[in-house]
Amino acid sequence: MDATIRLALSKGRILEESLPLLKRAGVEPAEDPLKSRKLILDTNSPDLKLVIIRAADVPTYVRFGAADLGIAGKDVLMENEGDGLYELVDLKIARCRLMVAEPVGLAARDDPKSWTRLRIASKYVKTTQRHFAAKGIQTDIIKLYGSMELAPLVGLSDRIVDLVDTGKTLKANGLAEVEHIADISAWLVANKAAMKMKHARLKSLVDRLAQAAG
Ligand code: ATP
Ligand code: PRP
Repeated sequence: MDATIRLALSKGRILEESLPLLKRAGVEPAEDPLKSRKLILDTNSPDLKLVIIRAADVPTYVRFGAADLGIAGKDVLMENEGDGLYELVDLKIARCRLMVAEPVGLAARDDPKSWTRLRIASKYVKTTQRHFAAKGIQTDIIKLYGSMELAPLVGLSDRIVDLVDTGKTLKANGLAEVEHIADISAWLVANKAAMKMKHARLKSLVDRLAQAAG
């Protein structure tokens, strides 16, 4: 059995907000992950490595056991529902909310209760479909990979489903929130087989991260 524990993290917001948490849990990277171009980083613990990947890829690495643990946004986990991971701890970092938004002009006269069919741009295709299907609303979803806020401004869609934190991005683009889909934060996830095979060592790290998250 591979003695090394791999923890998958994504560059950007998750990495930035995870570093202080990891430090509180006693984990320190051997070099600055915000500056390094390396994708596998040593830590102060010889048997723990950090694996740096794209946010949307974290569930894939963990599901296949290429990483034992991972830190992934609930938005990414919802989009990968049924992925066969353990969602272990809400780390309460990278907090935001998944919202339906539309141009302020439309929002002023719109009534979500009257929605029957919606044309929506989002990178969260499955989550959007599931949310509206549960309410009996039909959706035409246009898959995008970012900058969703642009879509209603250029007539690609009427509405978007995207993450909102401060609301500054929506405001800057003349959009308003109209419906809440989910509260989002980053979670510690684990490969199911690894939780059995490497239980003692993983449990100690999981417990320390849970305590650090508060
Ligand atoms: P990539 O850079 O690989 O395309 P990404 O743009 O989703 O991925 P980030 O913007 O770093 O990467 O987002 C990573 C995670 O952080 C998201 O999955 C979400 O859970 C959370 N997140 C995204 N935007 C915000 C925000 N504005 N405020 C707080 N948390 C956010
Ligand atoms: C995220 C999200 C919104 C923005 C919301 O994008 O997709 O665009 O943050 O945050 P706010 O409400 O505080 O303005 P991000 O900044 O991560 O850029 P991205 O499109 O590259 O993911």
